[in-house]
Order: sequence, then C-alpha cells, then structure tokens
Amino acid sequence: MPYTVLDLFAGGGGFSTGFQMSRRENETFEIITAVELNKDACDTLRAHLGTEKVIEGDITDPQIKERVVAACREVDVIIGGPPCQTYSLAGPSRSGKPEMREALRTDPRNTLFRHFFDLVDRIRPRVVVFENVEGITSKQLNASSEDELSHKDQVAIEVICDELESLGYSTRLEGDFTRRYQILNAVNYNVPQQRKRVIIIANRLDRVNPMVNEKNTDRPITLKEVLGNLPVTLPKISSNNMDKLKNMDVILDNLDRCLNSVVSSVKMLKESYSNQIEVQSDEFNNILAYLNDESFKLKDSKRSRTDKLLFLEGLLKGYNELLQIYTKRYFSDEVQQFQLSRAHNFRDVVIFSMMRPGTSSAQFINKESQAYDSFLDELYPYDRTKHIDTYVKHSWDKPSNTILSHMEKDGLKFIHPDQPRTFTPYEAALIQSFPLDYQFCGGRNAQYRQIGNAVPPLLARSIGESILRLLERIE
Ligand SMILES: C[S@@+](CC[C@H](N)C(=O)[O-])C[C@H]1O[C@@H](n2cnc3c(N)ncnc32)[C@H](O)[C@@H]1O
Repeated sequence: MPYTVLDLFAGGGGFSTGFQMSRRENETFEIITAVELNKDACDTLRAHLGTEKVIEGDITDPQIKERVVAACREVDVIIGGPPCQTYSLAGPSRSGKPEMREALRTDPRNTLFRHFFDLVDRIRPRVVVFENVEGITSKQLNASSEDELSHKDQVAIEVICDELESLGYSTRLEGDFTRRYQILNAVNYNVPQQRKRVIIIANRLDRVNPMVNEKNTDRPITLKEVLGNLPVTLPKISSNNMDKLKNMDVILDNLDRCLNSVVSSVKMLKESYSNQIEVQSDEFNNILAYLNDESFKLKDSKRSRTDKLLFLEGLLKGYNELLQIYTKRYFSDEVQQFQLSRAHNFRDVVIFSMMRPGTSSAQFINKESQAYDSFLDELYPYDRTKHIDTYVKHSWDKPSNTILSHMEKDGLKFIHPDQPRTFTPYEAALIQSFPLDYQFCGGRNAQYRQIGNAVPPLLARSIGESILRLLERIE
C-alpha cells in the first residue's frame, strides 16, 4: 500500500507530481487529496489526479476545512507551501487558554500559515513537509498587535518551527541538531534552474528528520540539454500603437540597423537548427526571405518618420501572416497556448536580438560593464532609478534563473538564448522539471502562474524519497 499524502495549496501540482514519482524499494506515495483555490490550477489537478481527489476552495473557509478533514482521516504525510505574502505569524500559541485558541481560529489577521497548522493539528499526519521561499529565513515578523510583539524579533522560519513543535512535531534534523530547516537549491536535484527553497520536515514519531540528499553534485543540467531540440518558435510582433511605444524615435532613426539585427537573428537559426525540419521548411524560408527583401527596400531610401512608421507596420503585418502559416503547419491548435511564444512589441524584439546571451540590461546600460552597448542603452525604456535588470537573456550552457509566476505579466527576465522572444510556458515547465507530457489548464497566463509557483517535481521527488527513508525507519 502506498503512503497517503494530502497536498495543501496544491497549485498546478508540482509538489504532488514529484511525490508521486518518489520510489524507495517498493514504497511509493499516493496523493489522496489536493486542496487549491484557483480554478485553472484545480482543472490541472483534476486532469492529473482525478476529479474526486481535488477540493476546490478556500482553506480558510470552515466548510472546506471540514471537507478536507473528512477526506483525510488517515493520512501519512501533509505537504504544502502556503503563499508567502505575509509574515505576520505570531499569535497566541496553542498552549494558551481556550479563548485564546479560539481567537487564533477566528481572528481574520491570522494568515494562511495558521490554517495550514490548524489542518495539521486536526488531521495529525505522521509527517509534515512545509515548503516556502528562502525569504522566510531572514524576514522578521511583522508585529501588528500586542500579542505579536513578543515574537517581534524572531524570524518567521523559527516561529513556524516552534509552531510545529508545539503541535508535537519534532523538527530536529539528522546530522545537525542545531538546524531545523533545509535550504535546497533545485539545481542540485537535476533541475536546470537556480531555485532556492526552504523546507521543514517534521514528524510526530520522535525521530530525527532526514536531510534531502543532493543528486547531481558534479555539474548542473544546462538549458541546452532540456530546450535545445524543441521546435523553433518565433514571436508574433504587435504592430498596433507603435507610435506610442517608448523610444520609438530611437528605433525609427535607426530602422535599418534594427531590422538587420532581427533578420540576422532569424537567419542564425537556420544554422543553429540545421537538423530541424521546421527550420529548413519552405514556410520558415518564406519568413526569412520576406524579412530580408523588405528590409533591403529600406536601404538608402530617404523617408519621413511617418513613412517609416507605415513601412514598419506593413512589414510586421506581412511577417505575422507568414508566421501564422508556419505556426499552423508545425504546431497544432491544442498546443499553441502552451508551446508558442507570447506576442512582443518591435522594440523588445530588437533588444532581444541585440543582447548577448548570458547578459542583462543591468549590464548593457552600465558603461563599466563589458556588455555595455550604447545603442541598447539608448533603447532601454524603463526608469533606471527603479529597474535596471528588466531584460535578462539566458545562455545555453547554464541553468535558468528562478522561474517566477511573474512570467504571467511579462517574460522579459526570461529571454531565450537564441530565439528573439521569451520562454514559452512549455519551456518554463521543462525548466521546472515537469514531465514532457504534463499539461496545464487555463490560458497562457494561468499556465505561467501555475508553473512559476510550483515546487520543481524533481526536487519534490528527492524530498519524497527522503520521507520514504524516514517512514521506513519508523516501520
Ligand atoms: C506557491 S503556490 C503552491 C504551488 C504548489 N505547491 C506546486 O508545487 O505546484 C500557492 C497556491 O496556494 C493557492 N492558495 C492561495 N490562497 C489559498 C487559500 N486560501 N486556499 C487554498 N489555496 C490557496 C494559490 O492559488 C496557489 O496556487
């Protein structure tokens, strides 16, 4: 019989997927219930776990809690990562008077962390795995009441560990009794991504908790290894309201140069992906020939600003039409949200084409940096007193930076190493180590959110295997 798991704040199922992959001898896990508020994420969970296992609703809602408790009378492990907007955790402790405990349950100030602990206390699993962002190891509590002032100087992670201890769960770690949590970097677990997360493992069986063993200590998996052979996707380039685009004058004054950089970056793809049929196809060749011919028309011609703008609009319309033909041929309708790039504006596509892989805008606007580029510096459209690392172009021979749910807003920190666009949801999912055929429900932005929020399945798998080791010792 597999060990049973309840996943709280389950998102699109990264944590659950990894636990389901965990194996030790013949031992495995089965997710019996997953609780999640967001409908798209629940649709994803239902597709993977089965409808009956998903409770869609707000964990703070007493009725939802009753359903969770009823569904999970006997559960071995609770896993979960409450969202981390707030660190105001302190409150009357469990050991306090009954009326204080009641206040804890009903006080609207109480955070999602508290509801997580409340469910742990009611269900009493053998093991709890709490996952969160690294920030909670340094964040001071945000005291907002007398009660909380007593915890003011404690960092959030310590309060969470204390809370688990007060519920009767030991947080002691094997080999190092001075620490109660682990900071794990996904890159050490065969995930092609730098992503640090904190986990606390706690058990109520009076055992020390296992360290999660690293998998690849020699070298990280690179982006090339996971994304290098995917079909090439070019972005749709929006031609609306171009005149309102910041720094459009810089583009129009240097239109020749800008178009050339875009054309060269597309041309390069023919060499870099010489063994991929879609790049050697007529449809792709037509795009390239069109861009080449059109940009040639601009050479040495004197045009007014308005003329240039009209010319560029026309060029982009023609490009988008040819792109559609290419896309229809090589990507089915079903995968388009997932496997295609979002649309970009022309200025950004120029920036993507001109940036060197492995650099960021913080470098190209910095005169001291080797990657300084006076033209990109001129093109940079954001307020430099606030944001300097807005654009980040990844490199093939390294793992990715931390995939963020912010990708649903824009992907400028996730520019592809050699295609002039940002990562698709599919690429983000592979960087998060989701299985190749894992599908996410909802539109493109909903998919980015679920992917960016997830615990990378391969990291979760290693955590799961360390819990199997712990449970084996208990057996
Ligand atoms: C950090 S994500 C969890 C990701 C997940 N562990 C995974 O590996 O894919 C946090 C999730 O908590 C959900 N959530 C936030 N507030 C909630 C609430 N009150 N009740 C239930 N779920 C909630 C969010 O919709 C989000 O999907």
